[in-house]
Amino acid sequence: MKAIMIESYGGPEVLQRREVPAPEPGPGDIVVKVAFAGINFMDVHTRQGKYAMSTTYPVRLPCTLGMEGAGEVVHVGSEVSRFAPGDRVAWCIAWGSYAEYARVPAGLAVRLPDDIAYDQAAASLFQGSTAHYLLNEVARLHAGQACLVHAASGNIGQLLVQMAKAAGVTVFATGSSPEKCAVAHRLGADHAMLYDHGRFADAIREATQGRGVDVVFDSVGKATLRDSFRATRKRGLVINYGNVSGSVDDLDPMELGESGSLFLTRPRLADHMSDPETVQRRADDIFAALASKQIHIPIANRYGFDDVEQAHAMIEQRQQIGKSVLSIAV
Ligand SMILES: NC(=O)c1ccc[n+]([C@@H]2O[C@H](COP(=O)([O-])OP(=O)(O)OC[C@H]3O[C@@H](n4cnc5c(N)ncnc54)[C@H](OP(=O)(O)O)[C@@H]3O)[C@@H](O)[C@H]2O)c1
Repeated sequence: MKAIMIESYGGPEVLQRREVPAPEPGPGDIVVKVAFAGINFMDVHTRQGKYAMSTTYPVRLPCTLGMEGAGEVVHVGSEVSRFAPGDRVAWCIAWGSYAEYARVPAGLAVRLPDDIAYDQAAASLFQGSTAHYLLNEVARLHAGQACLVHAASGNIGQLLVQMAKAAGVTVFATGSSPEKCAVAHRLGADHAMLYDHGRFADAIREATQGRGVDVVFDSVGKATLRDSFRATRKRGLVINYGNVSGSVDDLDPMELGESGSLFLTRPRLADHMSDPETVQRRADDIFAALASKQIHIPIANRYGFDDVEQAHAMIEQRQQIGKSVLSIAV
């Protein structure tokens, strides 16, 4: 079968097209004929080697890239009773979706409703599950509160804005260009602003009469985290769920005290997807929100096997707005 693999870490040039044997299922796995794979920042991080030492995401070389996809079950392992060949499924945080067939632990796969197409599923599950747990289980925001969503035109950012607004929360949003701020506005953000070298924190203090927001969703990391502290109210929560600009590696916990006894967390999706019921419940919520048009996840770009380098470059160069998928069954 065709697969896109990495055999060393590095830039887009390490992406290799390979002919490899199709996977066999282990006892607890299913094998899926992949229709579409999601293309994500996490694929870029994987390619760069950010998970080389991770125990949460034990991705090791050589590795077939892609950790989100949708397609039809073709084989099930001897211990799998929840799925059968022919089932329509999607999954995330199991690597190997940039390929014609993928082996997926059954506990990470979800059943698709008939009205959710494969491309929509492959565009929705990873960021949808992430925004879902961040909002409902980490932030636990409720109507009348205020939050800040950084990189609000990013895939998770867009969902956080939409879900927070649906929960009755006042949303401040940031972006790197007026065009990206306009995206956040269109999705419902009450205030959208440029990072402006950290001055977003001053603007938020002013708009909240000096109080600050209850929760900050910060996926940017090094470039914003300390100013995120300044934008947060006393005893508020800063959720650093990504590090697209690099990791903060010199933080003294005393800074949290000085910033108003803040809470800082660095959560990971894997720790919020630990049983099949939770995985399916999150997916069902996302698919229902899509079907009722409470959230929108438009597909911005569709790539073929020969265009993956271009897709990764778009993400790294911050040119992408919206979700990209890789068409496999073409
Ligand atoms: N913790 C978790 O559970 C979890 C789960 C899923 C993903 N993540 C992480 O969350 C982050 C966002 O994921 P996503 O899928 O929403 O990504 P995305 O759609 O590619 O959006 C990333 C956004 O980050 C902003 N950005 C700021 N500095 C950047 C830089 N130096 N290079 C590139 N982009 C930069 C860009 O918006 P502006 O140009 O407006 O700044 C960009 O649109 C990633 O780090 C991903 O690995 C974490």
